[in-house]
Amino acid sequence: MRLTLKIWRQKDAKSQGKLVTYQVSDVTPDMSFLETLDLLNLDLARKGEDTVAFDHDCREGICGSCSLYINGRAHGPQRGAAVCELYMRNFKDGDTIVVEPWRASAFPVIKDLVVDRTAFDRIIEAGGFISMKTGGAPDGNALPVPKQNADRAFEAAACIGCGACVAACKNASAMLFVSAKVAQLALLPQGQPERRERARKMVAQMDKEGFGYCSNTYACEAECPKEISVACIARLNRELQGANLGVEPSLRRTGSDRGK
Ligand code: SF4
Ligand code: SF4
Ligand code: FES
Repeated sequence: MRLTLKIWRQKDAKSQGKLVTYQVSDVTPDMSFLETLDLLNLDLARKGEDTVAFDHDCREGICGSCSLYINGRAHGPQRGAAVCELYMRNFKDGDTIVVEPWRASAFPVIKDLVVDRTAFDRIIEAGGFISMKTGGAPDGNALPVPKQNADRAFEAAACIGCGACVAACKNASAMLFVSAKVAQLALLPQGQPERRERARKMVAQMDKEGFGYCSNTYACEAECPKEISVACIARLNRELQGANLGVEPSLRRTGSDRGK
């Protein structure tokens, strides 16, 4: 395939960026999108031109580094996949593809397609953990966890911290990310003592970083490569309400959890 790529180029955080057009040939349907960018960069390097900066690490949907807006979609057109899992068979010969970085004031552009996502690290530092000692690995059945809670916690723990939810949200809200990080521990016995406090601290840090709040449009869920459910946001709101009212935590499921 021969493709036209319109790529956001920006020298540094202070410079103004613009879309620059490139041609890439010899793209095969089995290549990943990142490999297509590698192909372009090889060509640019051979010509002695500045290569395109983009984030990547694991290239298997685990690390959350790859973060591109492709043709107006966070992580591109394939549902439930990060950019590194997006294959060129989703495009056709002669296509023009527009590639941009995440757009959110809390994620400033560092260079080209790379944005600064350390705001997420600071949210995790604020409350993305539990401080109680859990000891060594217990026997499987020593601490019973209801199956439905274990499943919900596992689903929430799949969040890779990529930031697509923020990029897709018209409010640049980090609610899906924060709610996944709150839910993964709030549903387990070890997470009970600090669950309200964690939610309060993480949301306070989210606000401080300049992320917006949620107005329930569900764009985040649609673009999340791990298909984290907005049911997590409902749970986070209940945790916050509980924290504000001083209500004791309960592990019982409530109506809005059912069917999710
Ligand atoms: S909730 Fe989904 S989109 Fe948001 S950071 Fe986690 S994996 Fe990425
Ligand atoms: S539900 Fe909509 S408004 Fe709320 S965080 Fe997700 S995308 Fe943003
Ligand atoms: S490079 Fe790690 S998730 Fe894409």
